[in-house]
Amino acid sequence: SNEHECDHQHDDDQLQLQLPKTKGWLGSSALSLYQGFWCPSRVLPNIMVFQKHFQPHNQDIILASTPKSGTTWLKALLFSIVNRARYTPSNTPLLTSNPHQLLPFLEFTLYADAKAPNLTVATPPRLFSTHIPYASLPESIKCSECRIVYICRNPIDVIVSFWHFATRDHPERCSLWTMEDYVEKFCKGEQGFGPFWDHMLGYWKESLVKPEKVLFLKYEEMKEDTAAHVKRIAEFIRFPFSEEEESKGVVGEISELCSLGTLRDLEVNKSGKFMPNFDNKSYFRKGEVGDWVNHLSSSMVERINKVIEEKLSGSGLAF
Ligand code: A3P
Repeated sequence: SNEHECDHQHDDDQLQLQLPKTKGWLGSSALSLYQGFWCPSRVLPNIMVFQKHFQPHNQDIILASTPKSGTTWLKALLFSIVNRARYTPSNTPLLTSNPHQLLPFLEFTLYADAKAPNLTVATPPRLFSTHIPYASLPESIKCSECRIVYICRNPIDVIVSFWHFATRDHPERCSLWTMEDYVEKFCKGEQGFGPFWDHMLGYWKESLVKPEKVLFLKYEEMKEDTAAHVKRIAEFIRFPFSEEEESKGVVGEISELCSLGTLRDLEVNKSGKFMPNFDNKSYFRKGEVGDWVNHLSSSMVERINKVIEEKLSGSGLAF
């Protein structure tokens, strides 16, 4: 009943007020410690509605990631793999839409304003993305046959990428933090959807237990051999390339279309915003492995590496 809904809403509001808080990485943003992760306070109401109301379909494909790990890239790839029978590289909507518009975030976009959206589509599969940790995904997703593709990246490069994202060309959301401050927060686990180690380990462990359910990808390995990964992703999401497609070079075409160089140079990605404070262009920078050497001191690197080693030790996951 409505009355019950109102009671729940009241409970949720109370809960949000009581959660521990810390300052976020972007300007005036705040993080709330919810279910063991640092949730951007602004999207917490959306996440609560998502957790309560989302109904998975078996064909759904969910892209999960830590921020700044290659989310935008994977969105372009997944969209292109799934829709390759409908579009060619010369007429794909990727040429005129930012990847975040084509494969929307659950918590930022679809459940914006904490309202449950209508998620029916004309042609399955539905494609969604999220930064929510595995442990906080609704049980229904874990029990369904939907597929989860996860991407993460060496945390040292993630810090540098985030620092640029937060400060470059954005005086309005420029925080007063130095790189040292970012490193400090990161090592304490206080970044959006962090700690990063819990985020990675949650999906990592599930990918070991249920390899047919969670595909665990690393940015570095994707960069090293993109085509091989495009094939692997396609198989995993039940859209394998046929021999004919392979011999026609479709895998290479998709890899090229979704490359940083191609996407960054598109007019749509050079201008405009996909959310009020987020310029399309800030999602496309250098895309290099090891860019940290240009931005971090050796003592910062040592500190971060120590945390990575300590937190991931014994898991079989390393960078
Ligand atoms: P850098 O800041 O190191 O360049 P996310 O999409 O998760 O926000 O991650 C952003 C990072 O991915 C940025 O890294 C960005 O340049 C890189 N990136 C964006 N599109 C890419 C693509 N098509 N291929 C490779 N890297 C890409």
